[in-house]
Amino acid sequence: MNPHPAPALPDELTAVLKRMRLPYLRAAAPEVLATAKAQRWDPTEVLKVLLDEEVRGRDEATKAMRRKSAGLPAGKTFSSWREEDSSIPAPTQAALATLEWVHRAENLAVSGPSGTGKTHFVEAVAHAVIDAGMRVSWFTLESLTAAVGRAAVDGSIAKTITKITRAELIVVDDIGMLPSGQAAAEAFYRLVDAAYERRSLAVTSNLHPSGFDTIMPKTLATAAVDRLLHHAHVVLTEGTSLRLSEATAGRGVVPLT
Ligand SMILES: Nc1ncnc2c1ncn2[C@@H]1O[C@H](COP(=O)(O)OP(=O)(O)OP(=O)(O)O)[C@@H](O)[C@H]1O
Ligand SMILES: [Mg+2]
Repeated sequence: MNPHPAPALPDELTAVLKRMRLPYLRAAAPEVLATAKAQRWDPTEVLKVLLDEEVRGRDEATKAMRRKSAGLPAGKTFSSWREEDSSIPAPTQAALATLEWVHRAENLAVSGPSGTGKTHFVEAVAHAVIDAGMRVSWFTLESLTAAVGRAAVDGSIAKTITKITRAELIVVDDIGMLPSGQAAAEAFYRLVDAAYERRSLAVTSNLHPSGFDTIMPKTLATAAVDRLLHHAHVVLTEGTSLRLSEATAGRGVVPLT
């Protein structure tokens, strides 16, 4: 604790800051004003520091809200990602991590065997997208199908798709573990079509996208994949499952005591 707490703001100032809805400025003001007085800051500087605090606080709150509403699965980020353990070439990882492809509304398809880091990599990218001030909407093919199915009941499919494609990056994780029917193919097609050349779409799958027509009705799958791959970075992961190697190395669980 600071042995000399900064004096509280006068009530009238607190009231006007509340009325103006400047909570972060209000929280920072006692310290900032005390320092400004002690160090004889220029008034311009005081004003700037206080407003910067408000901007910073709002940006953080927006990011926290977007992170929550994005529905990311496991909290995996680049900080727990080991670049050298991934079969994705390092330059490709670096290029994708710049997020330039998201600014250009290009797509990303990551395909490869189970446990090779597809979901982890895409989730790390998704967190980076949110950190960069953009929005993410995360689905599995199943949850996307369910969301579109619910919207179909009250005729709000178009509205739902519009809402989903407000995000700069839309992820459909795990396409093709199980054969999916007409509803899933339709939901996927609608999303790909709505996002086409406007938003970035990232998909992960054990299959290469050109094989999606083996698990979905062919006509819809072909039309979706055609749009998906038109401007897409296709990344192939390979190797054996990192889940399996962690498990066999005894790092899969914390030992019981
Ligand atoms: N390069 C890496 N650095 C750190 N951890 C990794 C890496 N690659 C994979 N992992 C870890 O290995 C596990 C499996 O990875 P992940 O879930 O991303 O695989 P996947 O390719 O999506 O598999 P599936 O096809 O079964 O969904 C996770 O715990 C993930 O954090
Ligand atoms: Mg996965």
